[in-house]
Amino acid sequence: MAEAKRTTKADLEKIDRIIADHKEQRWPLIPLLHEIQGMLGFIPPEAIPRIARGLGLFPSQVQGVISFYTQLYTAPRGKNIVRVCRGTACHVRGGKTILKLVKQHLGIEEGETTSDMGYTLETVACIGVCALAPNLVINQTTYGHMNPKKLARLFGKKEET
Ligand code: FES
Repeated sequence: MAEAKRTTKADLEKIDRIIADHKEQRWPLIPLLHEIQGMLGFIPPEAIPRIARGLGLFPSQVQGVISFYTQLYTAPRGKNIVRVCRGTACHVRGGKTILKLVKQHLGIEEGETTSDMGYTLETVACIGVCALAPNLVINQTTYGHMNPKKLARLFGKKEET
């Protein structure tokens, strides 16, 4: 798993400026969170009390919103996002094995990022192309009819038997 990126004093100062810029907005929290994430790639947990203080909220309210929106992250993510479909069609056609093999190839568990920050592994509900099950998505590209051989080629490794 990737080590947590340290948030610098400069990062926190930038966050404070973003908070100040959003104070006048009617519903500032979500755009503010997106702006911080756009700047750093994630929302540092240390920023949560500052955001709460700045907007007159409880930290638990800020955390609650971050937890609710799956597109908001409190940890750095890899350069490539690998998503294995865990929908029913993919599951019955071997999705579970695909997930297991992806974990082996990358050496990480679901929700983790490789130490070189190359990959983050996630699972998703049905992505809408069940006819191609089992499916795997890397960034914006969907790879259908996945099997161990294709997977090994995709990750540039010898097939594990
Ligand atoms: S279940 Fe995987 S694409 Fe629908």
